[in-house]
Amino acid sequence: MKILKRRSWEIPEREATPEHVFFNRRQILAGLAGSGALIGSGLGMRPAFAEENPSAGLYPVPRNEAYKLDREITKEEIASKYNNFYEFGSHKQIWPAAQKLEIRPWTVALEGMIDNPQTLGIDDLLARMPLEERLYRHRCVEAWSMAVPWSGFPLAELVKLAGPQAGAKYLRFETFLDPSVASGQKQSWYPWPYVEGLTLEEATNELAFIATGVYGKPLAKQFGAPIRLVTPWKYGFKSIKSIVKISFTDQRPVSFWEEIQSSEYGFWANVNPEVPHKRWPQSTEQVLGTDERRDTLLYNGYAEQVAGMYKDLTDEPLFM
Ligand code: MTE
Repeated sequence: MKILKRRSWEIPEREATPEHVFFNRRQILAGLAGSGALIGSGLGMRPAFAEENPSAGLYPVPRNEAYKLDREITKEEIASKYNNFYEFGSHKQIWPAAQKLEIRPWTVALEGMIDNPQTLGIDDLLARMPLEERLYRHRCVEAWSMAVPWSGFPLAELVKLAGPQAGAKYLRFETFLDPSVASGQKQSWYPWPYVEGLTLEEATNELAFIATGVYGKPLAKQFGAPIRLVTPWKYGFKSIKSIVKISFTDQRPVSFWEEIQSSEYGFWANVNPEVPHKRWPQSTEQVLGTDERRDTLLYNGYAEQVAGMYKDLTDEPLFM
């Protein structure tokens, strides 16, 4: 397990407080009522999404204590019933629809400008990767946020396995395409499949993470099972779900939202409270499951790890 030095934004181990100590149902209801998340949410049912998953025995995995929070972990029942996954609908209560997704067999293709192109079965991949848990903040461009215990492995490990060639500059990620399962994909005005991209430097940054689990279990389907990206210094739309392909390329990928509206959603999408989106001021965020609005932090509080990657890119729209 990798142990890193304490970061400036870390606070003492308060955030690992057991759920029942900080969970206040009234607060959650107040927070959700404000966000409209209660409609059809089935609040009160325990999530039981992961039971049949063949990788269930791998979890929980050891926590990497280097990644700490400045806030409480969002209750699982809240985070798992308030999701963006347009393949299953353009609202937040997609979790029942997402259960239709078949996650075995599942393969991830590594292709493009690499020495080791291959298609990996998800369980082979899980067996080869060093699994760990990390507590990360998540900031959606829609100005809500949560804090989640992801399980998975550093994206840098997958990059190492692929063996990028000298000219490779970007990673292009792609989600599955199956409109018979994901009815949102029948909406032909969206440019399916969902695509996202990172620079190779971003992909090998210590924070870039591939999540295969959450809350000590395999990823529930609505979180993007069986494998998703997590880039906590960027707006949440970069965290592409249910990945089937990663291509290494010298061409900057055009992402799903960028293709839909490039004046609002860019390639970089780094969190910055001082750069408002057309529809959402970004200075503060609604913390899911609470009635709290917090000040948003530059790079979502991860400047120390990531700001250096952008210092020479003064002409790029880094924050949209
Ligand atoms: N990935 C796919 N394939 N489809 C999506 O609609 N939504 C994105 C991102 N990844 C999305 C996706 C957006 S806008 C956000 S905020 C996060 O997933 C939401 O992740 P969560 O549901 O785990 O909170």
